[in-house]
Amino acid sequence: MKLAIGADHGGYLLKEEVKKWLDQHGVAYEDFGTFSEASVDYPVIAAKVGHAIVDGQCDRGILVCGTGIGISIAANKIKGIRAAVCADEFCAEYCRRHNNANILCMGGRVLSTELALRMVDLYLNTEFEGGRHQRRVDMFTALENEEM
Ligand code: RB5
Repeated sequence: MKLAIGADHGGYLLKEEVKKWLDQHGVAYEDFGTFSEASVDYPVIAAKVGHAIVDGQCDRGILVCGTGIGISIAANKIKGIRAAVCADEFCAEYCRRHNNANILCMGGRVLSTELALRMVDLYLNTEFEGGRHQRRVDMFTALENEEM
């Protein structure tokens, strides 16, 4: 598994903590920026991470902005992206189980580092359940293709 990760200035510090955790746990990743706390536009970062996933360069992603909201909205504009903004462990687990989320979005100004890292662990180590959930996930694609 190779992760694509990215953040804007509001998520930069948490992204750096996530990278340390990934290094400690031997998870491969590519960092698509930003690389400082200077202000940047989060859709630019969301686009880089989202395209890395749909192009097959990376398997899944993690995006961080101040709230997780803006960067998730932007990422979800890319066909094939299922970005889930989560603020607790239950959602971090169930975005995988039920939604087959391929990007976890978090708020660097919302979460403690400890909670965020527990969420990253759940997100990376939970499988999609398929079954009835697959039918619903397939409907995301139908919506993208304006077939619903
Ligand atoms: C940037 O100030 C902030 O708007 C951004 O990080 C994010 O929270 C947007 O949803």
